[in-house]
Amino acid sequence: MSDHLLAELIRCLPDLRLLTAPADLEHYGRDWTRRWTPAPLAIALPASIEEVQQIMRWANAQRVAIVPSGGRTGLSGGAVAARGELVLSLERMNRVLDFSPVDRTLTVQPGVTLQALQDAACGHGLFYPVDFAARGSCSIGGNIATNAGGIRVIRYGNTREWIAGLKVVAGNGELLELNRGLIKNSSGYDFRQLLVGSEGTLGIVVEATLKLTDPPPPSQVMLLALPDMAALMQVFALFRARLTLQAFEFFTEQALRHVLAHGAQRAIEGDHPYYVVTEFDAIDEPAREAALAAFEHAVEQGWVSDGVLAQSEAQAAALWRLREGITESLAAHRPYKNDVSVRISAVPAFLQEMQALLLREYPQVEVIWFGHIGDGNLHINVLRPDGLDEPTFIAQCEHVTKLLAATLQRHGGSISAEHGIGLVKLAYLESTRSAAEIALMRGVRQAFDPHGILNPGKLFAAL
Ligand code: MLT
Ligand code: ZN
Repeated sequence: MSDHLLAELIRCLPDLRLLTAPADLEHYGRDWTRRWTPAPLAIALPASIEEVQQIMRWANAQRVAIVPSGGRTGLSGGAVAARGELVLSLERMNRVLDFSPVDRTLTVQPGVTLQALQDAACGHGLFYPVDFAARGSCSIGGNIATNAGGIRVIRYGNTREWIAGLKVVAGNGELLELNRGLIKNSSGYDFRQLLVGSEGTLGIVVEATLKLTDPPPPSQVMLLALPDMAALMQVFALFRARLTLQAFEFFTEQALRHVLAHGAQRAIEGDHPYYVVTEFDAIDEPAREAALAAFEHAVEQGWVSDGVLAQSEAQAAALWRLREGITESLAAHRPYKNDVSVRISAVPAFLQEMQALLLREYPQVEVIWFGHIGDGNLHINVLRPDGLDEPTFIAQCEHVTKLLAATLQRHGGSISAEHGIGLVKLAYLESTRSAAEIALMRGVRQAFDPHGILNPGKLFAAL
């Protein structure tokens, strides 16, 4: 059967680059979740929009599922191909196509990495502000599909804010040109924004026009050690009121220990339960004095026990590494990940309940907390204890996630802040979206992709 399907694909697109070697199927069939065994039909690497359209027409005719694929750095299984799907990798479509100094936009193909996009913006004296640790390997197509957030959302918002236009091949193979870079366009539904965060279930982004901005002013990076969780939001309120923040990230001593075990250097002596890495504008001497005054005030209040202000770019990078290195330092453990959010005003009450829940439900388990606390977004990584088999461990974590989802629901939060629903959080979509919303989402999917070819089984459970 699969031979026949591939023969037909090759007949339709004789020049298409296609991979079927077992090592390729494994490489392209998984993302960073590592929970599912990759089993795609084959890997298609189109080089043009026309090829993407032809693949979609073949997939519709043959009813073959397509998994759109970028850098596969996702953490929710959105790019996993474990059920005979054709992986449609955009990695060959990785060129920067156009820069418009007047519009202050860059137009790129979807396989451009976030880092390459940031560098291209910088080369034109401008700035693309979405940023996170996977920048070197994630692709802009994947960023758009998940509405990626990261470490500078507090200042610049999510990927969504930076999309001026998209070219998309819809599930039926039709090419859509969405918004065409317009700043003002009040002409009905904004399908561009519908595509952002759609996790590859509505269409394949084949070109993106991204807004750029002025580079940020000179900044300073500070690491703070905190005595308890309550201090976190006090320091945040203080720093946000007095400084112009570019980032405000937190992690625990347990998270830090994993990063140190991976070669990083401790920057503050002693063993403190919580840390914050913050970056803020430091344009002139008064701004730098204001930062020191805020720090001193936090120390006087007992909210901060110690701190380091980076004195060089190298030191700033070393402080950032303590936060940005967490995911990589935990990767070998294949942690069970929660990625939750609540409104900033709901953080203190939610944190209290969540802390009690996790202490009760994971008494013998290492639970690592970190995240974008200034956005109300927490990452909770649960490590499998030695001797516990993976299925039992995941079943236990799913049970706790159900309780966590109920807690989130009470606080009006979301079960997925920035990683997406994918496969990992499928069972919890209903805790975040109403039945009426999910019904509309299914209707939208039906309109874009009538045969359900694109990423089936992701975002929605199969009916
Ligand atoms: C991060 O904030 O570091 C990323 O979302 C990755 C992760 O949660 O592991
Ligand atoms: Zn994150």
